[in-house]
Amino acid sequence: MEMRKQRTGSASHVLVLPLPIQGHINPMLQFSKRLASKGLKVTLLTPTSTGNSMPQGNVFSINIEHIFDGYKEGERAATADEYIERFMGAVPLSLTELIEKYSATQTPVKFIIYDSILPWVLDLAKSLGIEGGPFFTQTCAVTALYYHKLQGGALKTAMEEKSLVSLPSLPQLELNDLPSLVHGPGSYPGVYGLIFSQFSNIDEASWLLWNTFNELEDEIVDWMASKWPVKPIGPTIPSMFLDKRLEDDKEYGISLFNPNSETCMKWLDSKEPGSVVYVSFGSLAALTDDQMAELAWGLKRSNAHFLWVVRESEKQKVPANFAEETAEMGLIVTWSPQLEVLAHKSVGCFMTHCGWNSTLEALSLGVPMVAMPQWTDQPTNAKFVADVWQVGVRIKVGENGMVTREEIERCITEVMMDGERRDEIRTNSEKWKKLAIMAMDEGGSSDKNIEEFVAKLESKQQ
Ligand code: UDX
Repeated sequence: MEMRKQRTGSASHVLVLPLPIQGHINPMLQFSKRLASKGLKVTLLTPTSTGNSMPQGNVFSINIEHIFDGYKEGERAATADEYIERFMGAVPLSLTELIEKYSATQTPVKFIIYDSILPWVLDLAKSLGIEGGPFFTQTCAVTALYYHKLQGGALKTAMEEKSLVSLPSLPQLELNDLPSLVHGPGSYPGVYGLIFSQFSNIDEASWLLWNTFNELEDEIVDWMASKWPVKPIGPTIPSMFLDKRLEDDKEYGISLFNPNSETCMKWLDSKEPGSVVYVSFGSLAALTDDQMAELAWGLKRSNAHFLWVVRESEKQKVPANFAEETAEMGLIVTWSPQLEVLAHKSVGCFMTHCGWNSTLEALSLGVPMVAMPQWTDQPTNAKFVADVWQVGVRIKVGENGMVTREEIERCITEVMMDGERRDEIRTNSEKWKKLAIMAMDEGGSSDKNIEEFVAKLESKQQ
C-alpha cells in the first residue's frame, strides 16, 4: 500500500471542473484522487444545483467546492438543453470569482482541468494567466470520429454512400458503429453543440488528459498524439478495485442517485459464483416502453439470476407483475453500487448500454459484457467490446429498431452459459483486466503520464 505523497512547502493547486452528470463526475473525481495521492492540492468543483447529494469541504483526499450554476440548491432543469444554457450563463462568472478568491491565498490555482465539452474554460483560464487542459470522458476512437466528422473527407463520403468507413488507425466501421451524434443532432441540439465544441481551441491546450490507457487504444492514441499532446491516464477506477496502491481510498465515490447498496450486496452474496446478469443502462439512457418490456421478458427467458437497475424515472415502464413473476430469479433496484457489484464473484456478465465508464469498469474488473448501446459514444464502444477487445457480444437490433426478447436470451446464453464463445470471452476479459491494472500500477503507462503531469506542474514557478 502506498501512502499519499507528502510534499514540503505548499502543494500546487489544481481545479477540476466536470459537467455535473454522473458519467463525467465519476472519472474526474477518481482522477482528482490520484492527483492528490501524488501530493497535489485538488479542488473539485460541483454545482449548487446538486445540493445535498454532493458533499463539500475535505472529502476523500481532495477539497470539494460548490460553484453557482444558475440554479438554487436542489432546483432542477426541465431539459438537458435548458441546463446547458443556464450553466453556460452562470459558471464563467462563478469560476472567475473562485480563481480570484484563491489568488489571494497561499494556494493560488496553477492549472484547471476541465471537462472537454467545456472548452471555453481554457480561454477563461488563460485570460487569468492560468494554464489548462481538457479531460476526455470518451475514448480516443470516439474523439477521432468526431474530428473526422468535422473534417468531412472519408467519413462524409462513406456516410453519403452508405458504405463501410475506413479511417486511419481505426478498425473498419459500419454506419451503426459510429457515435449517434455523427449522424446529426436529432432532438439534442444542445448536446450536439457541446460535443463538437471540443475541438474549438484544442490546439492551445498543453495537456489532453484521457480516461483510457495506451494498451487499449494503442494505434488511435498514437494517431491522436501525432496531432495533440494526448496523455491517457485511465482507467480512473478507484484504487481499491484496481491496483490497490492507495491506502486512503476506502470511500470511493459520489453518487447523484441513492444506491440500494446493502440490498444488492446481500442478494448477490446469496447467489452462486458467475450466475448473475447485472443489467444497467447508466444515468441518462431511457428505453421505450416496448423495449423495456422485451428486455424484461428476455431476462426471464434467459433463466439466469438478474440484478437490474431501473432508475426511478423508468420504473413505470417495467411490465406489471414482472417483479412478482420473477421474484425468485431477480432483483430490481433504482441504483446500485456498480463497482462493488461488478467486483462481486456472483456476477457472470454485464448487460450494458456501453457508457464509457460502465464499459471501462467492466473491462477493468474482468466482467464479460452483453452490449446494448443506445446513443452518443455507445455504439462505437460496443463495436470495440465485441470485435476489437472481444470481451463480449453486441446485441442485434431488428429492422424496426427493437431488440427482441429472443435476442436478449441468446446473448446472455452466449456470454454466460453454454455459448461457443464463452471461454474465449472470459480469457480476453481476464487479459484486459490485467492490462488495466498494470497501466495504473507504479511505472505503468497511465501512471507514468500522471507522474509526468504532476512533475511538470510542480516545476513551474507560481
Ligand atoms: C455518459 C455516457 O453515456 C458515456 O458514454 C459518456 O462517455 C459519459 O457519460 P452514462 O450514460 O451515465 O454516462 O453512463 P456511464 O458512462 O456508464 O456512467 C455511469 C456511471 O454511473 C458509472 O460510473 C457507473 O459505475 C455508475 N452507476 C451506474 C452506478 O454507480 N450505479 C448504477 O446503478 C448505475
